Amino acid sequence: MKTLTVPAYAKINLSLDVLGKQESGYHDLKMVMQSVSLCDRVTLTLDEAETLTLSTNLGFLPVDEKNIAVIAARAFARHTGKSVEHLSIRIDKRIPVCAGTAGGSSDGAAVLRGLNELMETGLSLTELAKIGEEVGSDVPYCVLGGTALAEGRGEVLTPLTPLEPCHILLCKPPFPISTPELFHAIDSVRLRCRPDTQGLMEALERKDLHGVAMRMFNVFEQALQPKRLQTVEEIKNVMIQRGALGACMSGSGPTVFGIFREQETAQAAANELRQNYADTFVTVPV
Ligand code: C5P
Repeated sequence: MKTLTVPAYAKINLSLDVLGKQESGYHDLKMVMQSVSLCDRVTLTLDEAETLTLSTNLGFLPVDEKNIAVIAARAFARHTGKSVEHLSIRIDKRIPVCAGTAGGSSDGAAVLRGLNELMETGLSLTELAKIGEEVGSDVPYCVLGGTALAEGRGEVLTPLTPLEPCHILLCKPPFPISTPELFHAIDSVRLRCRPDTQGLMEALERKDLHGVAMRMFNVFEQALQPKRLQTVEEIKNVMIQRGALGACMSGSGPTVFGIFREQETAQAAANELRQNYADTFVTVPV
């Protein structure tokens, strides 16, 4: 029996712009991505089992071929010729589900990275990211992690200067948002404001944390239903009033994040937000 546990890190979008729609129906994006220390644990075990199995600590998640971890294992098998029939996958989830923080995509990416190690297939991260394109739009980024520009459908990746050390507070409002539905909604919104992605990347290069934080911007906030936008704005306000350098919604939401210089300040804001929002986490960039 061989077993391996790998972390599957959550991500935030320091900025997110939707540039247009491809003929495929997918959207052209421009996003600055950052992985954070909040993570699921993905344990892969090769044993005598007869079929691929998946278990998780959350009863409501699918454990069949619909789960992105199984989709990733199947894609890995197709590309390498290795069998995954004797594989058991265990996911201990801590990243909130349907939250705009790539919880599912990071599990898929962890399966690809983990199987590569466990089965000694020697693929590079770039090769694994390429396989990840078949699994989901955010999976290639989750394979690489760190600070990166993601373009195209999300699969065209350019590593960026790492974000300066800081504390990133995540707070998820108590409603899920369907990613396809928000993409659909944004098609009929005339975007009033766009992020200064170039300025944000230059601030990263200068190691100017304040310059990054003041340019954080996500166009999806303009496509939210008014009540949901109000909740997002309220959380951002608490973060700013509690000393965040900037605050923004991540991905297709609804998780809001704020950037803090000091851990104590981030913790104080977390303590206040946790009174209303259980899914609140203080993290660091990874
Ligand atoms: O690739 P993934 O399965 O994660 O995408 C989920 C959904 O999000 C897609 O079916 C599509 O509706 C939307 N999407 C999009 N453009 C992207 C990424 C995702 O329209 N670049």
